[in-house]
Amino acid sequence: MKTELLISSRASLEKAREYILSDNVVAFHTETVYGLGANAFSDRAVQKIFALKGRPADNPLIAHVHRDFDISSLVDKVPQYAAVLKNAFLPGPLTMVFPSTGKVSRYVSCGLNTLAIRVPSSQTAQEFLKKVDLPIAAPSANRSKHVSPVTAQHVYRDFTDEIPLILDGGACEGGIESTVLDCTGAVPQILREGLVTCEMIASVVGSCKVYKSKPNERPKSPGMAYKHYAPSCKTAYFTIDELESALKIYSEEAERGGVPYLIAERKIADEFSQKGLNVFDFGLTGEEMAQNLYALLRQAETVSTLLICVEPTLRGGVMAGVMNRLTRAFGIGEKTE
Ligand code: TXA
Ligand code: MG
Repeated sequence: MKTELLISSRASLEKAREYILSDNVVAFHTETVYGLGANAFSDRAVQKIFALKGRPADNPLIAHVHRDFDISSLVDKVPQYAAVLKNAFLPGPLTMVFPSTGKVSRYVSCGLNTLAIRVPSSQTAQEFLKKVDLPIAAPSANRSKHVSPVTAQHVYRDFTDEIPLILDGGACEGGIESTVLDCTGAVPQILREGLVTCEMIASVVGSCKVYKSKPNERPKSPGMAYKHYAPSCKTAYFTIDELESALKIYSEEAERGGVPYLIAERKIADEFSQKGLNVFDFGLTGEEMAQNLYALLRQAETVSTLLICVEPTLRGGVMAGVMNRLTRAFGIGEKTE
């Protein structure tokens, strides 16, 4: 099959609907990263997502719905704080996990008795979800473990002629995946950090916890157990105190005839670039770094043989989510696989 990249229009949305109703997979823009969507009620369609991505069978999917979709048949025991969070943050990059009624395909939640629900704010996503008027199961539209896609071209590179349609909404302004929030307990608990931060959640509902899996414990959000987001070039990771070592391996790679690149926050990036080194400017604020991360990792794969990260010093806010993705892309920290 040929993969079409189309912007949202009456004709492309109609095509998307036909594909979804015939159990095919359609990629679509969201405000975080691109999603690979299929009818959440259809076993066959949901299984296609796992096959296409090469996704482990125990890593559940998020069900995406439009802003007016009634989720009461899909989930129950929605706590009061969830309604407050919904008003404050949805549509937007917050996924909420509730007890499932078991109405969607059993392949969506991979045996868990919960279901993750997300209402994306991107106009393309909303138009698509409205048009199909079904819950759409969708992981990020990358091959399993590869860097998440933040443009339609990134999706195309991973799934050329394997999916019929990509609904192209341009670059994703958020840049990292949604915050996944467990709403099954008395206090909401973040399973995956993202653009909606713990402080933001606590500021509207009073409290919020961040789940940290203990060694040898099956994580609550199974996706967090897998090494992820990795670019295909070689990588190296240094803290700001190890700049000398970073520059040493940069020179060694260049001497070997390779093409090293550094990725660093603005101040360091400017300094290196003045010295004539190959540099990616990660950005100044947490929001900029979130927006730039996957785009830069994808770009690095095409131009560089060795990507050397100098760890950003900025912390707080969305940096929790950025650091989670960054360390896992470079194989640091949560190496539970
Ligand atoms: O921003 C996003 O969330 C993007 C866009 C496409 O919406 N989607 C995305 O999906 O990042 P995916 O499949 O790449 O990541 C979903 C995460 C995984 O870590 C998965 O384990 C977790 O959500 N998850 C899904 N259902 C869950 C559930 N019932 N309980 C706990 N964690 C769940
Ligand atoms: Mg993913």
